[in-house]
Amino acid sequence: MKYAVLGAGRMGSALIRGMIASGFTTGNSITISDKHPDSLKQVASQLGTKAVESNALAVAEADVVFLCVKPNQSLEVVAEVASELKGKLLISIVAGIHASSLLTAAGGGFRVLRTMPNTAVRLRKGIIAIASNPSATDSDLELALRIFSSVGTALEVTESDLDAVTAVSGSGPAFALLMLESLAQGGIEGGLDPEVARKCAAGALAAAAALVTETEETPLALRQEITSPGGTTAAGLEVLADREFPSIVRDAVAAARKRSIELSAKP
Ligand SMILES: NC(=O)c1ccc[n+]([C@@H]2O[C@H](COP(=O)([O-])OP(=O)(O)OC[C@H]3O[C@@H](n4cnc5c(N)ncnc54)[C@H](OP(=O)(O)O)[C@@H]3O)[C@@H](O)[C@H]2O)c1
Repeated sequence: MKYAVLGAGRMGSALIRGMIASGFTTGNSITISDKHPDSLKQVASQLGTKAVESNALAVAEADVVFLCVKPNQSLEVVAEVASELKGKLLISIVAGIHASSLLTAAGGGFRVLRTMPNTAVRLRKGIIAIASNPSATDSDLELALRIFSSVGTALEVTESDLDAVTAVSGSGPAFALLMLESLAQGGIEGGLDPEVARKCAAGALAAAAALVTETEETPLALRQEITSPGGTTAAGLEVLADREFPSIVRDAVAAARKRSIELSAKP
């Protein structure tokens, strides 16, 4: 299987790095293209892929094409490679651009899957939601699930779920980082060295995530296990409940989802 990656920026490079590091494919099977010849050469030599000077050349050599340019560049790029795309699978990681818009921009005749990865694909710890549509086959979806499982946890969702996914696993790491910063700051205010506070806070969030992903227990049950009546955790949780922390976080998710819908609706 030959792959093309259009747009060798942060996400395109992270995806390629993960696919190669996991052994899913090799650099020889990937051709990349980008607007900037200098950064293109640099990424290709770092990752051991082929590089070509045009998107059309990259698509011509591929069976599967990853669209990794910015949303405002995406329709122009698919239109530019329309004839080379015929009969192929296009996997878009572009936020907010509907599968139907991509198909229309390039005049159809190819298959599309939309995905929403998050920034942790660069560590192969991403969450990647994949949404199918009538243009794609079951084996396209199965292939995409295998590809993205090499850079994290791949999940199938509906296309209309992608706005909520964008809010929870796309923007969510930033919300969790704010929690982490605040935890560390609380530690510093309690007398900790900043580096010790940073490590303790990062360890706390990593522990919470690992407990949820590596056990069958719910977050509520896990939280109750470490909350003794009258103890330290109970004292802190009481403050978070009084200040309505859960509803603040839910409001943040709703705002991010609303923004994703607004951005998708832009012409
Ligand atoms: N970053 C994230 O966490 C994240 C998460 C989920 C999804 N995404 C999606 O991933 C996509 C890429 O994001 P990114 O952060 O990787 O952006 P990026 O770093 O800007 O990468 C995009 C690359 O494509 C290049 N490019 C622009 N026009 C092109 C063209 N006509 N042909 C070929 N290459 C072209 C860009 O060059 P220039 O710099 O000159 O424009 C840039 O090198 C976006 O659509 C975004 O919605 C990102």
